Amino acid sequence: MERTLKISKIKDGTVIDHIPAGKALKVMTILKMDDRTTNSVSIGIRVPSGKMGQKDVIKIENRDLEKFEVDKISLIAPEASISIVKDYEITEKFSVELPTRLIGTVKCHNTECITNLKEPVSSDFLLISKKPIVIRCNFCERNMNEKEIISSL
Ligand code: CTP
Ligand code: ZN
Repeated sequence: MERTLKISKIKDGTVIDHIPAGKALKVMTILKMDDRTTNSVSIGIRVPSGKMGQKDVIKIENRDLEKFEVDKISLIAPEASISIVKDYEITEKFSVELPTRLIGTVKCHNTECITNLKEPVSSDFLLISKKPIVIRCNFCERNMNEKEIISSL
């Protein structure tokens, strides 16, 4: 009897691997994928991983990621790797990287911040610390920690 069920390889699309255990659904939210999504998607949650003990993995057929989406993913999965697959072969593979400056990516936690009050003003954050992750709003100078970032994505 086959005792392991591997997540199938994909033909064309994107694999987001090495997501911290339990964070895959948040990544799905970042990618705005829900019951209306028509792509084939495989999600592994808390699957065994040599490096991480447990990890999450998402495989999406026929979808490319935009830079702003990769930036958002880096905030909750700074160790994630992204593979682009074409006709079953990986044509590109890279690790996500936390940008030192995030423009228009995260909503400031401060409801009085000008970026929340005036429509054309984009949010603008500087990376203060990677581990634990802390970013600072360039307008109101308020810091946001990982928990606050996650709840604002
Ligand atoms: N993958 C896939 N479909 C393909 C090719 C690769 O779903 N046609 C997936 C693999 O299952 C893996 C990821 O893309 O989750 C990266 O593939 P690869 O670099 O071959 O895997 P590993 O060597 O295990 O990479 P790592 O060291 O990053 O775990
Ligand atoms: Zn602010």
